[in-house]
Amino acid sequence: DIRIYVEDDAGQRTELIGPTDMGLNLMELLKASGYDIMATCGGMALCATCHVEVLAGPALPEPGDDELDMLETLPVVHIGSRLSCQIRLTPRTDGLVVRLAPTGA
Ligand code: FES
Repeated sequence: DIRIYVEDDAGQRTELIGPTDMGLNLMELLKASGYDIMATCGGMALCATCHVEVLAGPALPEPGDDELDMLETLPVVHIGSRLSCQIRLTPRTDGLVVRLAPTGA
């Protein structure tokens, strides 16, 4: 299993433990951990309600075209903006630090 850290607005980090052998993505782990993410599209890179800001950790695979197109529709994006449904949990995502972006922002 890997560790993912979710940083809140006060800079406090919460550790989540995620399995890497179930084909889960980060959005699914966040939802299962009780975070309020609508994920209206169910992880298809079509709604952007799973927007997160990657703050630190390992380098991730580059976003695909679907993800980039969707990120472009957001009113506010950050350097580390990603759609969490497009981040697959693998041993290479161990130690990732993210902040949840407000819905639509
Ligand atoms: Fe809809 Fe990620 S859940 S874009």
